[in-house]
Amino acid sequence: MQDKVWIFDTTLRDGEQALKASLTEEDKILLAHTISRLNVDVMEVGFPVSSPADFRAVQRIAREISGPSICGLARAVSKDIEACGEALRPAEKRRIHTFIATSPLHLEHKLRMSLEDATEMAVKSIKLARNYTDDVEFSCEDASRTPFDDLCRVVERAIDAGASTINLPDTVGYVTPDEYAAMIHHIRNNVPNIDKARLSVHCHNDLGLAVANSIAAVQAGARQIECTINGIGERAGNCSLEEAAMILKMREDHLQVGCDIRSEEIYRASRQVAKICNMPVQPNKAIVGENAFAHSSGIHQDGVLKAQNTYEIMSPETVGVPNNQLNMTSRSGRHVIEHRLSELGYQKSDYDMDSLYESFLALADQKGTVYDYDLEAMIHFNQITDKDSFYQLQFVNASSNSQSIASATVGIAMGEQLKQEAATGNGPVEAAFLALERITGKAIDIVEYNLDATGQGASSLGQVDMIAKYDGRQYHGTGLAADVVEASVHAMIHVYNLIHRAAKVSSLKQQRKAG
Ligand code: KIV
Ligand code: ZN
Repeated sequence: MQDKVWIFDTTLRDGEQALKASLTEEDKILLAHTISRLNVDVMEVGFPVSSPADFRAVQRIAREISGPSICGLARAVSKDIEACGEALRPAEKRRIHTFIATSPLHLEHKLRMSLEDATEMAVKSIKLARNYTDDVEFSCEDASRTPFDDLCRVVERAIDAGASTINLPDTVGYVTPDEYAAMIHHIRNNVPNIDKARLSVHCHNDLGLAVANSIAAVQAGARQIECTINGIGERAGNCSLEEAAMILKMREDHLQVGCDIRSEEIYRASRQVAKICNMPVQPNKAIVGENAFAHSSGIHQDGVLKAQNTYEIMSPETVGVPNNQLNMTSRSGRHVIEHRLSELGYQKSDYDMDSLYESFLALADQKGTVYDYDLEAMIHFNQITDKDSFYQLQFVNASSNSQSIASATVGIAMGEQLKQEAATGNGPVEAAFLALERITGKAIDIVEYNLDATGQGASSLGQVDMIAKYDGRQYHGTGLAADVVEASVHAMIHVYNLIHRAAKVSSLKQQRKAG
């Protein structure tokens, strides 16, 4: 490799910020481990000042993840930098990423200040951030709509103040690849101290150009790409990590640069992000879409059978797409599950075999055959329905037909107590939810309810994703089961457990205050 491009993953910051419901701390930890296995150079994992929950998640990731540099975002104000510095303290390698807008549009209408004042704020913040770490990144928000001369002035001052990475985002996904490359060339040729910093790019995908713009910037001399798994992020999203990384790997001959991403981890990371963030991947998405390696036309099929590279520039295995559709049944032992999971890229520490195997047998009895995607879904859902949860589903019986009103009986354990209730409703799901409401005494508002199928055909599992409101707060519940009513009840119980946990946390806080 001639030269290296740093991969800066921002799935847990720019990506997360675009989700309808924020991720739980557990979800973030799970994804953080997955992202670090991709061997990214930097992972931006949150915006610590934005909420106590974000602060805690960043702090926990900083404590648990080694390898990549752990980064937090901070506006160019002292309280943001201080929160970020504190949250990142436990990290082996830490980076503070601070930013301020520099375009005339943002300065006039959003910040209502001059470029000179914004530059002063940037300089002050960078200096403050340097008290916490030597690794400080500065971003000129809306750089692509900032006049080149203004950009040069701000960048020079930021480097003098101690920023070692300068990021020039196309915040609104507006420019074309040649324009973006011209901006990078201009900065490299006109900022006297530019050799003291790494130039970074951060592209949004409003016109579908985020990946093309990032690669054009690399060709012009940028050496860090900011990106997210599956390209999730604000509005139309960010540059997709898997596409940028595979372009660098597949076309290293032409670009004369590469990156350190472990490509075999890509598929698994993509599946996990899609599931946990409830953002399905479009089938024709490059690299990770369901059809990315499927050949339909007879001529193409004939070609790949004769020589794979006639119609395939990379093999599915390169990006970790499993080529073996081994089906598992209730006769399969634990070692088969473990073997299959390791082929899918999971480590033993990613799951608890006892509870996974219990769920596996229950599902195998219901469905007959358990597929790879079932196993992956179970790993995720076992993590959110852990045995320590206060509310645990015991059973659900629901009935409905076209002639009579639907009814459901639900039994759950609430701590030590076993309770059951029956209710009727417009459909079996509503009846089951009403039964749960009677048991718990808590009326929940459903803001959004989505039912999806995980897997293929009639054997697929029902996956329910819902956003629910209780006492002014929103909660994100998910549930998975062969039966749709049961999946819905799991999702609602997930919500009840989140409410229970939130109440526990706030009463602990009050006790601490009082004490
Ligand atoms: O899009 C953007 O400009 C950003 C910055 C905070 C880097 O996300
Ligand atoms: Zn962004």
